[in-house]
Amino acid sequence: MTSTAADRAAALRAQLQHHAHRYYVLDAPEIPDAEYDRLFRELQAIEAEHPELLAPDSPTQRVLGRVLDGLVPVRHAVPMLSIRTETDTTPAGAVAFDARVRRELELPADAPPVDYCAELKFDGLAIGLRYENGVLVLAATRGDGETGEDVTQNVRTIGQIPLRLLGDAPPLVEIRGEAYMRRDDFERLNERQRERGGKTFVNPRNTAAGAIRQLDPKTMADKRLSFYAYGLGETRGWAQPATHSGTLDAIAAFGVPVNAERRVVQGADGLAEFHQRIAGLRDALPFDIDGVVYKVNAIALQKRLGFVTREPRWAVAHKYPAQEQMTRLNGIEIQVGRTGKLTPVAKLEPVFVGGTTVSNATLHNVFELRRKGVRVGDTVIVRRAGDVIPEVVGRVPGPRDGYVSNFRMPRSCPVCGSAVVRERGGIDHRCSGGLFCGAQRKQAILHFAGRRAMDIEGLGDKLVDQLVDGGLIRTLPELYTLGLAKLAALERMAEKSAANLVAALDKSKQTTLARFLYALGIRHVGETTAKDLARHFGGIDRVMDASVEQLLDVNDVGPVVAQSIRTFFEQPHNREVVEQLRAAGIHWPEHDGAVADAAPKPLTGKTLVLTGTLPTLSRDAAKEMIEAAGGKVAGSVSKKTDYVVAGAEAGSKLDKARELGVTVLDEAGLLALLAAAA
Ligand code: IVH
Repeated sequence: MTSTAADRAAALRAQLQHHAHRYYVLDAPEIPDAEYDRLFRELQAIEAEHPELLAPDSPTQRVLGRVLDGLVPVRHAVPMLSIRTETDTTPAGAVAFDARVRRELELPADAPPVDYCAELKFDGLAIGLRYENGVLVLAATRGDGETGEDVTQNVRTIGQIPLRLLGDAPPLVEIRGEAYMRRDDFERLNERQRERGGKTFVNPRNTAAGAIRQLDPKTMADKRLSFYAYGLGETRGWAQPATHSGTLDAIAAFGVPVNAERRVVQGADGLAEFHQRIAGLRDALPFDIDGVVYKVNAIALQKRLGFVTREPRWAVAHKYPAQEQMTRLNGIEIQVGRTGKLTPVAKLEPVFVGGTTVSNATLHNVFELRRKGVRVGDTVIVRRAGDVIPEVVGRVPGPRDGYVSNFRMPRSCPVCGSAVVRERGGIDHRCSGGLFCGAQRKQAILHFAGRRAMDIEGLGDKLVDQLVDGGLIRTLPELYTLGLAKLAALERMAEKSAANLVAALDKSKQTTLARFLYALGIRHVGETTAKDLARHFGGIDRVMDASVEQLLDVNDVGPVVAQSIRTFFEQPHNREVVEQLRAAGIHWPEHDGAVADAAPKPLTGKTLVLTGTLPTLSRDAAKEMIEAAGGKVAGSVSKKTDYVVAGAEAGSKLDKARELGVTVLDEAGLLALLAAAA
């Protein structure tokens, strides 16, 4: 044995113990999971090579985590196990698992492929839900696997978790799954924190885990959590289906959410295909996953395979590239946005995170940057999940070499030199240059040309840079006077591309009022507000001349939005821009109500009411689908209601629907209605 190996092992153990405490007990990790895993594997490798170094207290020798003092411990009737992780993120991981299962089942080479249930691996906190005679009586965290913590009080506030099961519930069933936070709920929470100048949360998983284990249930109030079931604990008096997939279907029938992206697949090929398909879907999912989970589908085979120490032989987690990584912060630059907002942007040592290489990440604003204590030269944690902009979530504690100066917001715009201002008590610094500022002009043009705005194909970043920097465009209407000759004269612009762009500009002239209003880039006027305005006023002149009071009559328009619209159209140069764009030939159907010009939609004129928790669709998703099909979602049931869509925990609205004889649908019924109508 070399003393260096012993020293290294001791150092690794100390580090791992420190980080495990931060992660499991304090819910405040300092390093990304991938880094923890790397240290863990390094220690495992040393211990494998030098068995004499193995100590019973090594982090490799036990399941981590302990019961906190404040929460009441709960002993699990059936231990809550963890699963082996296949860290090879290539399809080889699936092949290796299938080979192991076949070997342990002693299947001959020519035996048919094994059936697996393939699922998503949700990134949250494991929870067991104990239902006695259909009623939720206990919710417990995993803890160390043998003993968890009673978190019933907090879990009861999670809307997705039924307090009573649907249908014929057995005398006892413990449903296990993951409590997690959707990315949009997480972003909204942080957005609110930022507006208030409060501390932002690091990632959805820690936020969910932290909230559930808080002693004060008030901390749950502003955090919307979700839940997906993936298995069972103790059951009594219930004939469990013979397969895992059948069990999940039964759990879904009890009204507990089970994710729809689960499949029964055959053999290694089926697993590898699933892994690859979900990899392509990962960014588009509304929540974080860190991999997929494969389970032998037949319960009888699961029993034959059994367990090794604390891990079942019949299940494995197959990872994807981590969504958080460490890297060096090389510099901080200022980016000027469409509304003039100055955002500090981190220039990073390029790092592979969430499946792509990231070298820029947002630091949001100077206050957040200060709170996080991030300085140039630091090792920082970058997070990239879904299509959310990569962000720096914090620094990895450690000594700094030498003095590094604190970052300061510039007093003048780095792009145009105009004064930088900050509203009283506000968080954001803004360039006061307006469209005089090249950066704002560029962003305004890009926004105007965007797919959801005027949809000018081919007008991207590079071209806009050229047009603005070359002084070819100063205002939006000038886009339409560019002409073929000027465009073709640009560097790197082929005749054909120039002609395409001219055609795209021409095509964009026929639009809708809602798109046009959105394209103008009025502060606080997003797509939905633009549609509401178009529907309400029906014409641009009426919008431009509307008073604040008249604007307040529009659906969902509050004082801030109304004032912003009024201020925009009070500026003579903005009215001029509108006139010039109209003179350039931009037009839309008369009395365009954004929907009126669209093709008749299948649910047009129908009013639906949503109640209870649907098994797979969030309320927002269901609402979006109904509205996309032309339907309206109302808050209460009346004689005018065409359908009531009811999920778990549906209450008085369902009673009312039955009383009035309104057709009641479940989620499948809603989907069928949308499909049939489409
Ligand atoms: S099955 C005996 N299925 O991953 C098998 N676990 O170590 C028990 N997880 O913390 C786990 N998604 O909370 C299973 N579809 C899924 C899962 C899943 C996430 C978590 C689980 C546990 C860890 C497994």
